[in-house]
Amino acid sequence: MTRRVASVAVPSNIAFIKYWGARDLARAIPSNRSLSMTLRECLTYCTVEHTPEPGPDEIWLAQDGGRLLRPGPEFAARVLAHLDRLRRRTGATGRFRVATRNTFPSAAGLASSASGFAALTLAATRALGLELSPRELSSLARRSGSGSAARSLFGGYVEWPAGRRDAECHAVPVAGHEHWRLCDVIALVERGPKEVSSLDGHRRVRTSPYFRTRLRRLPERLEAVREAIRARDFARLGPVLEEEAIDLHLIAMSSRPPIFYWQPGTLAVLAAVRELRRDGIAAYSTMDAGANVHVICPPESEAAVAARLEAMPEVGAVIRDGVGPGPEVTEDHLL
Ligand code: DP6
Repeated sequence: MTRRVASVAVPSNIAFIKYWGARDLARAIPSNRSLSMTLRECLTYCTVEHTPEPGPDEIWLAQDGGRLLRPGPEFAARVLAHLDRLRRRTGATGRFRVATRNTFPSAAGLASSASGFAALTLAATRALGLELSPRELSSLARRSGSGSAARSLFGGYVEWPAGRRDAECHAVPVAGHEHWRLCDVIALVERGPKEVSSLDGHRRVRTSPYFRTRLRRLPERLEAVREAIRARDFARLGPVLEEEAIDLHLIAMSSRPPIFYWQPGTLAVLAAVRELRRDGIAAYSTMDAGANVHVICPPESEAAVAARLEAMPEVGAVIRDGVGPGPEVTEDHLL
C-alpha cells in the first residue's frame, strides 16, 4: 500500500487586533474580527506520513540532530483530536505519523499553536493527496482549538472575520508581505509555558465587566489598523497596536478568576519601548496571551530596538523577526 509523506514550514503570526473570546468556542466562531501579521522566522516544521492501513497514530517532537521525542499528553491529545477531525472532514481512513519542530520556544505567547496547527493541517491534507485552497485549509485549521491558526495559512497581513456560519469563518489576506516590510523584534522575558491557556482565557472573557466595552470599541480600532496598513502609516498604526494589546490584558486581568500573563520583564520592556520613542525611534509594543513582548517597528528602527532590548537584564533573548510570505511546502522530511 502507498505511504505518502508531506513536509511544510508554517509561520507563526502576531495579532494586531486580537482574537479574545468566542461566540461559539467549540466551533471556533470568534466574538470579534482579528487581524495579524504573519511572521518569517518563527516557524513550525511539520512532516506527516499517511498510510492507508489502519493503526494508531504516532506523534513526535523532532529535536535538532534528528532525534524524536514523545510529546506531553496534553499536546499529543490535541494533535490526535485534530487528526481525527481531518479524517472525518476529508473522509480519509488510515494512520498518520507526525513529527513537528518549532524554531522558537513553544507555549510562551509566541503563537506556537497557531503555526503548529496550521502546519499540521497543511501537511496532513497533503499527505492525503489533497491540494486544498488556503481558505479551505484556514477553515479546517481554526477548528483545531487554536483559532489563530486560521490566519497562519496566509502570508503578509491577514484578517479573520467573525462570520456566523462555518463557511464564513476562514481568514483572508489583506496585504502581501512586500506591501509593507514591518519588523517584529521579540523580547523573550519568559521561556516556560504560560500558566493559563488561551482556551481558558476565551472561556473567561464574559466574566470581565469590560468585555462588552471592548467589543463596542473594536470596529473603530480595526478600521484604524486596516487604514494604517493600506497607507503604510506607522504613526497611525503604532498607538492602536499598543492600546489593543493592553486591552487584551485588561480583559484577562479583570476576568474571574483573573489571569496575569505579564511578568516584571514585560513591564520593563514596555517602559524601554516608551523610552525609545522619546529618543525618536519609531517602535510600539504588542503582546499575545503571554509575557513576551513583540516590538513592531519599521526597518530603520530595527537595529536600535534590538540593541536596546538585548542590553536589558530582564530579556533572556531577542528574536529579530518580521512580516513573511506564509507557508511553504518543503522536501526536508523530519521522519
Ligand atoms: C492572544 O485560541 O488561537 O494570541 O493559539 O493557543 O494561543 P493559541 O489560541 P487561540 O488564541 C489566540 C489568542 C491571542 C490573540 C490572537 O492571536 O488573535
